[in-house]
Amino acid sequence: KRSLSHIHGNERSTEIAMLIGQKIEILDSTLREGEQTPGVSFSVDQKIAMAKRLDAFGVDFIELGHPAVAPDVYEAVETLNDLDLNAKKMAHGRASKSDINDAVAIGVGWMGFFFGTSPLSLKHKFNVTKSEALNRIETAVKYGKDKGLKLRFTAEDASRTDLDYLIQVGQLVQKAGVDRFSLADTVGCLTPTKMKELVSRIVCELDIPVHVHCHNDFGMATANALSALEAGAQCVDVAVNGLGERCGLPPLAEVVIALTNIYKVNGNWDLGMIPKLTELVNSFSKLDPNANQPIVGKNAFTHKAGLHVKAVAIEPKSYEAISPESLHRKRHFVIDKYTGKSALNNRLNHIGISVSPKELDTILIEIKSHPEKLNWEDKQLISLTKSMGIKS
Ligand code: COA
Ligand code: ZN
Repeated sequence: KRSLSHIHGNERSTEIAMLIGQKIEILDSTLREGEQTPGVSFSVDQKIAMAKRLDAFGVDFIELGHPAVAPDVYEAVETLNDLDLNAKKMAHGRASKSDINDAVAIGVGWMGFFFGTSPLSLKHKFNVTKSEALNRIETAVKYGKDKGLKLRFTAEDASRTDLDYLIQVGQLVQKAGVDRFSLADTVGCLTPTKMKELVSRIVCELDIPVHVHCHNDFGMATANALSALEAGAQCVDVAVNGLGERCGLPPLAEVVIALTNIYKVNGNWDLGMIPKLTELVNSFSKLDPNANQPIVGKNAFTHKAGLHVKAVAIEPKSYEAISPESLHRKRHFVIDKYTGKSALNNRLNHIGISVSPKELDTILIEIKSHPEKLNWEDKQLISLTKSMGIKS
């Protein structure tokens, strides 16, 4: 009979052996997905301070933001791109010419763009067939490569995508010149075992490095990220304090400390900086530490980015793995600088205001020019539209 300590010893050495000689990278998304946390908006100066600290800490990639979101986000990406950092700087956006053009105009070296590949995304978000989606993705990749960008393509909702189709997408983007292929567990529904199976298969099918983007809706983001690395992924996305939409991303501290202590990875990270990094981001985000807790946290069923709100209004499963109703909870939509046309129009209709497309644009410009406002309440939207001469 083997003793328990013997088994533990075995497991530890297996974990250590798993990552020996493997290149491991950390992508920090605090400035991009972190700012999608309900109730969070960083100033350009705060983003500069965080980027410098993250760089000194030793992350490999920093996602600077999605320039199309708001003028201050665009300005932040421009300013951050001028910083002298060791980390690779990456702009974020949709698989669209306009978002690629923004990255090119700003002159950022890397761009990460995404396209939802699951049946839910194809049907409810894009209303396209599988082959139409492949065409759109290929066109975007070729356009970005022609412009000289280093590209990471993310299959959004990869975890709910049919595996054969996901492989087809991966091989297509690789052939079209993408530098990295990223799998997003967009609603956090994978388990470490399923993540391992998925990543092992994708790594086998592709030659380019594989990234993963995990969400924490079931509290498994860190475990899934580590499992992906065990299966041969090269890079995992994290955010300081686990910021991000709903329950957020794997916290940088958990991933890095687990890699160092359990897997014995020597990542050249300045571990002593972690408490200060946490405090710095906390002082800017001012987030209640329980807000992004899975299931029970205040933000667990709150959607913020325009693109998410638009999709959830049509089909909640697009960005929810658990129904809030099953827990007697309600879903919420935040209106702030991350809002989109459709999200804003829905809210205005809900409060009895109907506007022309031109008026909608004007209101959106006004909202996006107030990045300090964290959540526009109905009454604030009513007085805003009144002050603009729009009748309800
Ligand atoms: N690739 C290519 N096109 C996409 C896309 C993608 N991944 N996602 C959406 N689009 C298209 C939509 O189909 C739509 O096209 P149409 O005008 O022909 O119908 C167009 O982009 C606008 O849609 P959407 O982005 O939802 O518009 P919006 O005005 O509601 O929101 C932003 C604009 C910038 C606020 C929104 O894109 C956003 O929320 N971005 C940040 C969130 C984010 O990047 N999430 C990533 C995953 S975490
Ligand atoms: Zn995400």
